[in-house]
Parts: sequence; C-alpha cells; structure tokens
Amino acid sequence: MCLNGVVKMSKIIKIFDTTLRDGEQCPGASLNSEEKLEIARQLAKLNVDVIEAGFAIASPGDLKAIQEIAKTVKGPIICSLARCRKEDVLAAWEGVKFAEKPRIHIFMATSPIHMEKKLKMKPEQVLKAAVEMVTLAKTLCQDVEFSCEDAGRSEHAFLYQIIEAVIKAGATTINIPDTVGYTMPEEYFKIIHGVVKNVPNIDQVTVSVHCHNDLGLAVANSLAAINAGATQIECTINGLGERAGNASLEEIVMALKTRKDFHGVDTNINTKEIYKTSRLVSNLTGLVVQANKAIVGRNAFAHEAGIHQHGVMSDKKTYEIMDPHDIGLEDSVLVLGKHSGRHAFVKRLKDLGYELDKEKLEKAYQSFIALADKKKEITDRDLESIVSDEIYAAPETYKLEALKVISGTGITPIADVTLSFKGKKIKAKVKGTGPVDATYLAIQKLTKKQPKLIDYIIQAITGGTDAQGEVTVRIEENGKMYVGHGADTDIIVASAKAFIAAINRLVAVQSVSDGAKQHPQL
Ligand code: KIV
Ligand code: ZN
Repeated sequence: MCLNGVVKMSKIIKIFDTTLRDGEQCPGASLNSEEKLEIARQLAKLNVDVIEAGFAIASPGDLKAIQEIAKTVKGPIICSLARCRKEDVLAAWEGVKFAEKPRIHIFMATSPIHMEKKLKMKPEQVLKAAVEMVTLAKTLCQDVEFSCEDAGRSEHAFLYQIIEAVIKAGATTINIPDTVGYTMPEEYFKIIHGVVKNVPNIDQVTVSVHCHNDLGLAVANSLAAINAGATQIECTINGLGERAGNASLEEIVMALKTRKDFHGVDTNINTKEIYKTSRLVSNLTGLVVQANKAIVGRNAFAHEAGIHQHGVMSDKKTYEIMDPHDIGLEDSVLVLGKHSGRHAFVKRLKDLGYELDKEKLEKAYQSFIALADKKKEITDRDLESIVSDEIYAAPETYKLEALKVISGTGITPIADVTLSFKGKKIKAKVKGTGPVDATYLAIQKLTKKQPKLIDYIIQAITGGTDAQGEVTVRIEENGKMYVGHGADTDIIVASAKAFIAAINRLVAVQSVSDGAKQHPQL
C-alpha cells in the first residue's frame, strides 16, 4: 500500500501449522519420525511461522521426532504441546530445546463442562495450575503459548481472568480455540473481540485462534477472528485433524491472499509450495484429498461445464478467482517420453523440487524407463508417484517378483504370487472372491501377516486408458496404521505393490519400534 509516497506495510498474520500434532491425531493418520521430518522440512519451505511438531509426552517416538525436527529444521519456531502438568512441560522442553526458536505450548480446559466433567476441578484450581505451569515453562523457554481449551464454550469473564493471569506469568501467545467446532463466525468474532477489548495486558502477546471443523466452519471462524484482531492462525495441511479436522492452511492462506482487498493482511507463506505440501501430506498419511476440496482438490481449477470453458477461454478471470500457478500448479502435463533420457528426467525432477541422492535417483530412473516402455506420455503426476515411492518407501523386505491372476465371469479368481524375501523366492497360489482379494490372501500367506485392511483407494493418475492406476492402502495391526502406495498400468499389480509396501512398513516399524503411542487424554 502506498500513501503519499510512504509505503505502508500490511499486517502479517502468523501461520502456526499443527499438521504434525493435531493433524496427526486424525483417525488413521499415523506418521513415523522420518515422515514427520520430511513434512517439517516441506513446511519450512512453505515458510510457516510455527511448526507444532508433536506432543512430546505422548510417546518416545513423538519425542524423538520433535527432537529431530528441532535439531534440523531451521526457520520456523518449533513447538511441542503439553498438558498443564509438570511432566508434560518438562517433556515438551526436552523436545524443543535444540531448536533455533523453541516454543512450549501449554493447554488447559476453561469451559464449565470440561472443568467439571473432564478435569474435575474448580475454576480457581484451573487458574492456579495454569499460572504455575506457565511460570515453570518460562524458566525453561522464553516463548510460551497458552491455550484455553474449549474457549468457544467458556464463560467470557473467566476467559479474561485466566488470560490476564497467564500473561502476567509470562505467556507470549494466547490461543483461544474452538475445540469442538461449535461456534458460528459472528459469535467467534465476538469472543475474540471481547478478549482483545477486555484483557488489559493483551497488547503484550500474540492472539491466536484454532478452529475445528465439526460444522464445516473452521476456516470461516478463523477469518472472522482475524477481523476481530487475532494475529496467529493455527491450521493444518489439507484440513487434517481430530474428528472433522482443523481449519485448512491452504484455504486460509489463499482466502487472505485472494481477498486482501477485504481483510487487508498478508502471511509469510510461499504459496507456490502449497500444492506440493498437500501432495506430500496426502501421500505420507494415505489420506486422499477429495476431488472437490478447495485449493488443492483435483477439480479445484478444472472447468468442466461448457459455459465455464467458454468464459475461461476468452478471459480466465470470468470464472477463475485465483491463478493456479500461485499454489505451484504447472500448466504442462506432458513431460517426458521413452526417448527423453536421463538428463531430461533429472532436470524435470529438479524443476518439481526433488533432489534425490545417486542411489535413489538411479532406482527412480529405472522405474521411469520401465513405465515409459508401457506408457507413451509420462506426466508430472507419474513422476511424483515414482519419486514418492522411491523416497518414502520402507526397506523392501518383501518384493513383488511375479503375479498372475485369473479372473472373469463364471470362474473363481485365483492369484499366483511370487515374492522375494531374504534372497529367496517364495510362492503361493490362492483363491479369492475377486482378483484383489485372491492377491491379498496370497501375500498374507507368504508374509505371515494378517493386518486389517482399513482403506483401499484406487485412482487413475492421468486420463486415458493407458494411465497408471495408483493404489493407496491403509492397514492396521495392533492399533497402528501403515500406509502403502503402488502404481502400475495394471491395477492388480498396483494393488499388490501397495499392499506389499504397507506390509514392508509394518515390518520395518516392528523391527525398530518407535514405541507404542498413546495419545494422552486431552
Ligand atoms: O482443539 C484444541 O483445543 C487443541 C488445543 C490442545 C490447542 O488442539
Ligand atoms: Zn485442536
């Protein structure tokens, strides 16, 4: 903004990403330390202000992942969650103390129902415990955030009282969550506005909001809070999170960017990294983004209806309110073919932001050659799928060597599967109710693993009947979830690869146990 030659800077809204904490609490989204680190690195490229890396007390695995992120990811503040308990605060500090910019995030419920039924504490006891724990955290870390859990259903006078007290005790950010996704945007506006107007020392801290999506209002509530004076938004990639999820980072950031005329604020986010971050989180969690999801869904920029296409052809702005390039979507889908060669392959990967080490690159190149033999045109999405399989796959304890399936009308499907395991070939021939069932039963027999199949999702990577089918499976054993991907022009082969990849993950985790995770009662 330029007034009389003076450049006026817009207010910056801080983006606090909690994909690795609240997002990871989402049913079925279970990530190992390496995957969390990969996501944290990408979040740093996205330039979020804060990464909530986990809940240190939850498990040794969570603590280890937070420490790894704290030691290696530079740029954003690295934060760990803690209940209002001494052991939680100390564990949180253990997690983040190596970070360039550490933060301890303490929360305590403040609504009558949570205080009475969950904490079984009187408001005075809650206030005392909150002040004590913020005081303790402050002796360890300069940057302390305090969250009034279930603020959306808390009494306003009590909110003002506890917020004032924890600021006096040293809190530097105050978060006012709509924990159960209950409030309406106007109502939430009033809560935040009330805090900003009625807490005398509120100007000393950052006012943060954290909205859940139970009524589909998480983004609307977060935006309403910005207008009421909040300067930090807590959100997750793809809107992951407990139950219906949290406010989606990509929707908030693009709403603020697209409607800067309305909100008059900026974020520090490098929006060109949005699409890649969304794909990465979806790949690693196995939680597929719905096609019509705003900003990052497959159809978000697709114009099917003839009338729209006509409008878009004469001027994109008729129906497109955002430029797809702004979120990092490329125009070109056709990239490489059989004769493109290694140089072009490496260059295209680099353009897509992937820099693999020599060994992984060679493996990915061989997969590319094999695919190019079957498929004329290799797209960016094909490359992404090859690379994500090579980078993120667990060690190949079991490898698919051969698969023959007989199926059709009027016959019982039968799968003949050969795997390699510890240098030997193992084979099984099994009948099933369908070709995938027969294949999976054979793999279970050979690996002696009988996980529960939670999700089986099949998608065509591009259009056309020669497209690769990409299968994502999520399996469960002993309460832990494992994701596997497989891509092939033959969907039964893709299904087998995905199932084996998930089993390899299960075997890898069981051999180096991360420690059983039990989310503490929030
Ligand atoms: O939803 C919530 O209230 C939370 C807090 C722990 C910040 O996730
Ligand atoms: Zn939450």
